[in-house]
Amino acid sequence: AGQHVVYSDEIDSTNIKAKQLGEEGASHGTLVVADMQTAGRGRRGRGWDSPSGSSIYMSIMLRPKFPPVKAPMLTIVMAYSVARALRTCTGLDVQIKWPNDIILNGKKIVGILTEMSTEIDYINHVVIGVGINVNTETFPEEIADKATSLRIEIGEVQKRAPIVAEIMSEFEKCYEEFEKQEDLSFIQEEYNKLLVNCGKDVCILGAKESYQAHALGINETGELIVRREDGSKETVYAGEVSVRGV
Ligand code: BTN
Repeated sequence: AGQHVVYSDEIDSTNIKAKQLGEEGASHGTLVVADMQTAGRGRRGRGWDSPSGSSIYMSIMLRPKFPPVKAPMLTIVMAYSVARALRTCTGLDVQIKWPNDIILNGKKIVGILTEMSTEIDYINHVVIGVGINVNTETFPEEIADKATSLRIEIGEVQKRAPIVAEIMSEFEKCYEEFEKQEDLSFIQEEYNKLLVNCGKDVCILGAKESYQAHALGINETGELIVRREDGSKETVYAGEVSVRGV
């Protein structure tokens, strides 16, 4: 993965570009990287503030052979790879907030947006977009108290290229293993060690109900398992809920 790299100084969105390349027949593992985005996309239809010089904006386009139901597990594989790469590059205690975010000292430092193009029963291509706050010094007001960057936490400007390279090397290893196994048992234990709130009480905010529970970690298909106050175990699906520390 990442053998074919497309770099732009300025782009609308690396996810849009990677999807376009996917539709045009680009090869599995094509990586799109940009210095700035004019229409950066976040989850739930939100934008992703993408100024020049400060962050990593990257999207990888994949052509998985496994069925579409397994695709959400790729977000878990990517979050795990990014968390490990950031720990290697910075030595910081970076943690994963299931399923899409990476947290440093309680604040968001990475967002991941996975988009998929499927035919009836197979995946045409998947795009996994990763936005990392590297040298950001100030954030828009709405997220100022919830976001941080490597520069803010370390106090020095960080080089972006070695981080991208480390992420791709981690992701390539994990992806190969995932392709063989088609589940997450090979990273489950290590992933759960990096999971923020694992073994702690969390608040599950669902569409139908919200409740307090004890987070036990992910299972081999990437869902979050929690124990409710009455002792019963619940499987929490990504996309249906939001998890907050209490
Ligand atoms: C989130 O809402 O947390 C996900 C944010 C994902 C942002 C990245 S930046 C690179 C890629 N291109 C985009 O337009 N979005 C993703």
